[in-house]
Amino acid sequence: MNPKPLVLITHPLPQEWIEPLHQHCTVIVGPDNETGLSETLAGRFPEVEAILCLLCDRLTGDTLRLMPTLKVIANLAAGTDNIDLEYCRNHNVKVGKTPGVLTNATADLTMSLMLSVVRNLPEAAMAARIGEWKMWHPARWLGKDLAGATLGIYGMGEIGKAVAKRALGFEMKIIYHNRNEYAAGDLDFPAAYVSFDELLTESDILSIHAPLNEDSRYKFDITVLRQMKNDAIIINMGRGSIIRMDDLFTALQEGWIRAAGLDVTDPEPLPTTHPLFQLANCLILPHIGSATEETRARMAEMSMENILAGLAGKALPYPA
Ligand code: DGY
Repeated sequence: MNPKPLVLITHPLPQEWIEPLHQHCTVIVGPDNETGLSETLAGRFPEVEAILCLLCDRLTGDTLRLMPTLKVIANLAAGTDNIDLEYCRNHNVKVGKTPGVLTNATADLTMSLMLSVVRNLPEAAMAARIGEWKMWHPARWLGKDLAGATLGIYGMGEIGKAVAKRALGFEMKIIYHNRNEYAAGDLDFPAAYVSFDELLTESDILSIHAPLNEDSRYKFDITVLRQMKNDAIIINMGRGSIIRMDDLFTALQEGWIRAAGLDVTDPEPLPTTHPLFQLANCLILPHIGSATEETRARMAEMSMENILAGLAGKALPYPA
């Protein structure tokens, strides 16, 4: 009898999510609270056939070379920028992801972040908690109206569209910049395509939803941030390194822009000593865009399907 194939799960996941693997595979799970592939898993690299990994695990060519029997990688994420896809293509390693299912959860969180930043929720809630709420303050904790404001979307993919539809419910005006302009009628809601420069100069709130690639990496640097409105808010839901964090700090500290809301940072986790944590006008979340019970369970289900298909030598249902 053939031994069961070895699957490495890089970090602990709820048992019910990984149940389907136990019947067919030997499963080894890496440690919690550690970013990246743990040393404790490295001893099993030579015999691993499948990996279930997270977006915080970097699967570079150098690491993958240590896994000559690897058939499939299932990334528990919609993005795959943490994996050397070219290496995988050249070495017949199938790569799966979890597209589509996190659109609504991520769009909901975008609105939460936008509203929290625009209405100073963390600061106001803290003031209430620590006794700074002495009366109904007519001119403290003032935010900005969303109605009538222009939302600029950088990256009008599925998540960008879901955000635009929600923002229209708040009576915002939508502009977007994308690699390509949508043809007339391709978007089922009103949104104007603008150049990148126009996106910067016209957005009251600029929300980033682009994937990380050579075009988008560090796209928002000091020169770009300087072009934005002084009262603008920037939201990043894509990947941390689309913004140069040090430049963002300067922009926020010197008031070139009003505030920022980040669900993603560079690096992740962002060290608690990072100067951005000192700024009242920067709200940072620990990459929780897709973190709802329903969405994460569905992402796990898709990852299971990817692994079992890859181990069986079949095409992955959700390929990268
Ligand atoms: C993804 O899946 O790429 C998201 O960033 C997770 O929230």
